[in-house]
Amino acid sequence: MYSSSSLTIYFFSFLLLGYHGEARITLPPNATVPAVIAFGDSIVDQGANNNLNTLIKANFPPYGKDFVAGKPTGRFSNNKTPADMIVDELGLKEFLPAYLDPSLDDKEFLNGVSFASGGSGYDPQTPKLAAVLSFEDQLKQFKEYIEKLKSIVGEEKTQFILANALYLVVAGSDDLANTYFTIGIRRLQYDIPSYTDLMVSSASNFIQDIYKLGARRIGVFGAPPIGCLPSQRTLAGGGLRLCSEEYNQAAQLYNSKLQPQIEYLNSTLSQSRIVYIDIYNPLLAIIENPLQYDIEVVDRGCCGTGNIEVSILCNKLLPTCPDDSKYLFWDSYHPTNKGYSILVDQVIAKYINDFY
Ligand SMILES: *[C@@H]1O[C@H](CO)[C@@H](O)[C@H](O)[C@H]1NC(C)=O
Ligand SMILES: *[C@@H]1O[C@H](CO)[C@@H](O)[C@H](O)[C@H]1NC(C)=O
Repeated sequence: MYSSSSLTIYFFSFLLLGYHGEARITLPPNATVPAVIAFGDSIVDQGANNNLNTLIKANFPPYGKDFVAGKPTGRFSNNKTPADMIVDELGLKEFLPAYLDPSLDDKEFLNGVSFASGGSGYDPQTPKLAAVLSFEDQLKQFKEYIEKLKSIVGEEKTQFILANALYLVVAGSDDLANTYFTIGIRRLQYDIPSYTDLMVSSASNFIQDIYKLGARRIGVFGAPPIGCLPSQRTLAGGGLRLCSEEYNQAAQLYNSKLQPQIEYLNSTLSQSRIVYIDIYNPLLAIIENPLQYDIEVVDRGCCGTGNIEVSILCNKLLPTCPDDSKYLFWDSYHPTNKGYSILVDQVIAKYINDFY
C-alpha cells in the first residue's frame, strides 16, 4: 500500500518530468501548485486565436521577436506573457500552453493551460465584436478539459488538481477601451456606472461558475489605467496624447466595485481564496516614474510609430524600436516582456500568500 502522501509525491514527480526549472517563489509550507489555469483576454492568450476567424491575432512577426527562435506564437508581446512568467516562477514549466494548441500532449495538459482569447471580455458583446472566444466558450472548454483530466488521471486526482491549481482571470480592458469607448455601441445603452456594474456582475458569475467546477484559488485582475495605453492616448488624449482621464476614471470605478465583490465571494464561497489583484497602481507607477524601473518610453509602443499599431496593424512591414527593454509597451496596447516582468514580480510578491 502506498500512503497518500507518497502517491502524491510520485504523482508530482511525474508531472514535473522533463522540466527542470526551479521555483523562485517561496510557497507556504505544504502548499503545492499542481497547475495554472488562465481565462480572459490577450494578456494571457497563449495562442487561442491562431485558428479562429478573427483579426485579433499575434501569430506573425514582429510578435514573438524575443521568444524562443523569434517565433511568433500568438502571444501578444515580444516574448512571454504574464501567464508564462507565473508558471516559470512557480517552477512548473517554462510556458503555459493554449488549450487549443494542437501539439499539446497529456503531460503538458496536466499542469495547466490557458483558455484566454485576445479581444475577449466580461460583456458578451466584447468577444462578439472581436469574433473571439467568450467567457461562455472558455467555460465550455474548461469543462472539456476537466473530462480529459479525468480520463488521464482519474476522478480523485482531477479534483485535487482543480482545487489546488492557481487560476488567473484577466479581462475588462477590452470591455472598457473597445466596446464602451472606442466602438461605443454600449455607450448608447449604458452610462459608465451601469456598464461597470454589468462587467462586475458578469465577472462574479464567471468566478462562481468555475468555483462550482472545483476551482478554489482564483486571482482576479482589475483593469489597468486604460487611458494611458498608447492607442487610447492617440484616440482620446488630445494633441499631446495625454492619458485620458475619463477612461482612467472608468477603470478606477470598475476596480472599486470589483474589489469588494471579490472579497465578498472570497468570504462566502467556502474553502476559497479569491484574490483581487490590483494592476492599476503598479502600471501607473511605471508610467509616472519610468526611470526608476530602467524604462525610457511609456507613451508609445515599440512596434511601428507605436501610437496605434496593434494586432494585424503591427506586422512585419513595420520597423520596431532598437531596444524593446527600454519600452513599457510592445504594441499600442500590450506591455513588453520587460513591462510584464516588472508587474508580475510585484504581483507575485504582494499576493502569493493570499492564496493559502
Ligand atoms: C504539513 O503536512 C504534514 C503531514 O501531512 C502535517 O503534519 C503538518 O501539520 C502540515 N503543516 C502545515 C503547516 O500545514
Ligand atoms: C479570504 O477569506 C479567508 C477566510 O475564508 C480569509 O482568511 C482571507 O483573509 C480572505 N482573503 C482576502 C484577500 O480577503
